[in-house]
Amino acid sequence: MRCYSVLILVIIYFKNVDSACTPPNMYYIDCSSTRSLNQSIQICNQYGMTLINLTNSSNLVGDINTLNQSLVAVNCYNNFWFSSGNKTGYAGSVGTLGDVLAGILGGVLNLVGGVLNIVLCLLGCPATTTPAPITAAMLVCIRPLQQRVIQKCLTQSVRTDMRSFHFTEQPMYGGILDTFTCRSLTTCSGLCSSDNLCNGISYINGICNLYI
Ligand SMILES: *[C@@H]1O[C@H](CO)[C@@H](O)[C@H](O)[C@H]1NC(C)=O
Ligand SMILES: *[C@@H]1O[C@H](CO)[C@@H](O)[C@H](O)[C@H]1NC(C)=O
Ligand SMILES: *[C@@H]1O[C@H](CO)[C@@H](O)[C@H](O)[C@H]1NC(C)=O
Ligand SMILES: *[C@@H]1O[C@H](CO)[C@@H](O)[C@H](O)[C@H]1NC(C)=O
Ligand SMILES: *[C@@H]1O[C@H](CO)[C@@H](O)[C@H](O)[C@H]1NC(C)=O
Repeated sequence: MRCYSVLILVIIYFKNVDSACTPPNMYYIDCSSTRSLNQSIQICNQYGMTLINLTNSSNLVGDINTLNQSLVAVNCYNNFWFSSGNKTGYAGSVGTLGDVLAGILGGVLNLVGGVLNIVLCLLGCPATTTPAPITAAMLVCIRPLQQRVIQKCLTQSVRTDMRSFHFTEQPMYGGILDTFTCRSLTTCSGLCSSDNLCNGISYINGICNLYI
């Protein structure tokens, strides 16, 4: 339905290589508001993503580094919810990431809870070691890796009253913003162009996916 009624206000073209347009990484960050843990989990799930899970693995240091840079890039210094091991409801922030990392690598995250004042845990922490529980934090979701996504890239436009995008196909991290049947690739990409949250699309067998 939506697919046929859109007004396309942007110029779209396709090309193969684009070095200037960085694909989104695995973290979807919404720093604009804080929410309860349950709400945050629900929102991640609604878009086919999961709440960030910082569990010990050989990728942990790299993952935390990426997270650190992603948060700083959007000036996001608030607490965010995360899971670790089989527990969820921890809160960390850019300022405490180093301690979070040390807590996970040392295998003590579950045990210390709020004692080091680095992470607050709502679930599973002994009551005596839990500081004033936080009830709201911002959300960070993990985007799954999607195959054959055509990334949306902003192009420098000669006219300041027009925004122009071009698209490049590749595997890309993305949550699913919307899915519908659509008559043409141009219509599908036009919908993505007119939605600020949309990072890219796939258009396969008449199905248009918009990625967040
Ligand atoms: C959050 O969800 C869990 C299970 O999904 C439920 O047990 C718990 O009561 C919920 N908490 C709140 C505050 O809604
Ligand atoms: C976090 O990830 C680990 C490893 O992938 C998994 O075993 C664990 O169940 C996840 N935790 C939650 C709360 O989803
Ligand atoms: C959660 O993980 C801890 C150790 O990391 C383990 O002791 C505990 O049994 C696990 N709980 C469940 C429900 O799997
Ligand atoms: C996060 O990045 C800052 C620099 O932007 C750095 O000083 C800090 O050590 C980093 N923290 C972690 C846990 O990597
Ligand atoms: C965390 O993972 C690293 C490498 O994957 C391992 O050497 C270390 O023992 C693990 N720590 C814990 C507490 O499991």
